[in-house]
Amino acid sequence: EIQPVILCGGRGTRLWPISTDRAPKPFLPLISDKSMLAETAARVSRAAQQVTFGPLCAVGSARHEDLLRRELPGAGLILEPVPRNSAPAVAAACLGRTPGDLVLIMPADHHVSDLAAFHRALTCGAKAARSGAIVTFGIKPDHAATCYGYIRAPGARLEQAASVQAFVEKPSRETAQDYLEQGGYWWNAGIFLFSAGRMLEAFAQHAPDILEAVTAAAAISLPPRPGQSVSLDAARFAECRSESIDYAVMEHVEGVEVVPVDMGWSDIGDYGALHALKSHRHDNVCEGAVFAIDTHGCYVRSEGPMIAVRGLSGIAVAATPRGVLVTPLSEAASTKPLAEEAARRG
Ligand code: GDD
Ligand code: MG
Repeated sequence: EIQPVILCGGRGTRLWPISTDRAPKPFLPLISDKSMLAETAARVSRAAQQVTFGPLCAVGSARHEDLLRRELPGAGLILEPVPRNSAPAVAAACLGRTPGDLVLIMPADHHVSDLAAFHRALTCGAKAARSGAIVTFGIKPDHAATCYGYIRAPGARLEQAASVQAFVEKPSRETAQDYLEQGGYWWNAGIFLFSAGRMLEAFAQHAPDILEAVTAAAAISLPPRPGQSVSLDAARFAECRSESIDYAVMEHVEGVEVVPVDMGWSDIGDYGALHALKSHRHDNVCEGAVFAIDTHGCYVRSEGPMIAVRGLSGIAVAATPRGVLVTPLSEAASTKPLAEEAARRG
């Protein structure tokens, strides 16, 4: 049995104004009519045929407790008083479990189109995790992206576990280009499978301060029971260092394995990714009240005002009653500072 845990604390700033602090990306129906969080939960449903999953757990912000409960009525919830990135959330997800429990960490904001391939990769990863590996899932890179972790495992094959020689989080453009040319690298899908005891051991060795702070903040018993919420102690959790699991643990720990998988994976990080995912048949993607003339390869979405565009190419336009964002799709990944400032001013 695999114990699924969804990390749901990210803010999705690059998708402002659609994604806001009040209702961030995971809670929005971006791809289908279900929220990304509900889509993620459905991937690890207890009704799955190929893999047996235990009860779902999610780690997210106390501010979003109502949204989390609405989307995941039966899940155990671990609520964070302040965001401290993914490492503390992973540590909290492991505390109080039986050391041999297999824990599956999943981001709340990814799209996976081939569920059967995902489940086959999990079955293969579970074997490696049972023998003590920290298992990652590798996506074949198709460009020198700088927003992903890179996993070096030359000779690794699809749906077979292979040992990882290096894990490099978010390399520079030049390094990423270099990796692509060398070959033998995979993108880290951001999904991890391991035994709870092995991950806690890794924290003790590579990020003991985070483990200590989270343990102190989790005085109430973890993991939460299905349908129950556990809040981490505000003062103690606030003292924890903010760090991602990739930098805190994955770059340093030994015994990492990768299962490469081709599952139609996409990290819906920005408007470029949304456009790419939805435009396989249409070259424009228009959602909501949109009127476009002589426009090509654009993503235009309105959650309010009527948007009329003309003569545009390769542009994202997103509007809500709160604001409007316009950016070239090719630069949609770098809108974070702009969107953050706009959200602050608006
Ligand atoms: N509970 C909680 N609390 N979750 C958080 C927090 C937090 O403070 N911060 C981030 N998360 C969640 C996000 O919601 C997301 O589901 C997951 O942790 C990963 O965080 P991101 O901020 O989206 O990370 P990233 O996309 O920059 O990088 C990660 O994912 C890439 C693949 O999409 C890394 O694992 C990369 O190596 C990987 O390639
Ligand atoms: Mg992400």
